[in-house]
Amino acid sequence: MKLFVTGGAGYIGSICVEEILNAGHSVTVFDNLSEGHRGALDPRATFVQGDLLNPAEVGSALAESGAEAVMHFAANALVGESMTNPTKYFRNNVTGGMHLLEAMAFCGVRKIVFSSTCATFGTPERVPIDETFPQRPINPYGESKLMFEQMLRWYDELHGIKYVALRYFNAAGASQRFGEDHRIETHLIPNVLKVALGQKESVSIFGTDYPTPDGTCIRDYIHILDLAQAHMLALGSKESAKYNLGTGGGTSVREIIATCEKVTGKAIRVQEQPRRAGDPARLIASSEKIHDELGWKPKFGAIEGIIESAWQWHLAHPFGYQG
Ligand code: UFG
Repeated sequence: MKLFVTGGAGYIGSICVEEILNAGHSVTVFDNLSEGHRGALDPRATFVQGDLLNPAEVGSALAESGAEAVMHFAANALVGESMTNPTKYFRNNVTGGMHLLEAMAFCGVRKIVFSSTCATFGTPERVPIDETFPQRPINPYGESKLMFEQMLRWYDELHGIKYVALRYFNAAGASQRFGEDHRIETHLIPNVLKVALGQKESVSIFGTDYPTPDGTCIRDYIHILDLAQAHMLALGSKESAKYNLGTGGGTSVREIIATCEKVTGKAIRVQEQPRRAGDPARLIASSEKIHDELGWKPKFGAIEGIIESAWQWHLAHPFGYQG
């Protein structure tokens, strides 16, 4: 199959591209490199540097690729930034996404797999979160992803574009070749590993008074290769659908830090800080629907293995793609 992958030079996109290519498909990556890296581009893929905000650029790149399906990873994804600069999120994630759908309708590409997020649910009343839960985002990032999910329904109804929206919980870990390198790092695991590498003095724990057993937030960390596998299955699915994607397990911030100490053999200094705005206490996925309908099952459930893969990548790339 020929695929057009937006954001294929980013963390999640690059590893999915690698897996798609390993499965024998061909890929055109479309990325403006604002968040992605040249070093994260798989050399087997065709690369087009372009911006979703430019309809002509995305239209001609899609037409030239001859793609039969699209995977759409390109987006801004920092919750905190979205609270100070909502326009950036609505512009890039909604308007940019609309240009992509418009180009698909024009070129007759009838399949899209979309990177959505558990942030579309906001603060859930309970966990695990399944697909029947109300979607009430509590930040512009989550809202922008929900708006795109809603657009998908209409492009299906009016243009016959079948979609699968995957609501990721906390993507983590690395493949042998590609890993997590954000220009501004806000995520927990890479920040803890920077302390282990000696690049940071300490890691902050944002909030120690949550209603959880150790007082810190609980998240559902899913290995990036399991997430890539879900994309492969989504590609083969004929029906439009939305799936939550996590392992169903929860790990607290303190447990992540303790596991990083175990995996790296280094002591991690911590600084206890007040809560970070917009952080729900617990986010855990129910992935029963994707298991039942597409047969998806995580292979790398244990947090230790997830962190080990991230650590190996950071050891090999201590300065990320710049190093
Ligand atoms: N945390 C710390 N210290 C840090 C970084 C994070 O204590 O230095 C805490 C956070 O407060 C949170 C947990 O670790 O409780 C996980 O934080 P991350 O930033 O790693 O991940 P988030 O759960 O905030 O974000 C993830 C995705 C987003 C998505 C969001 C949905 O990265 O794209 O889940 O809530 F929108």
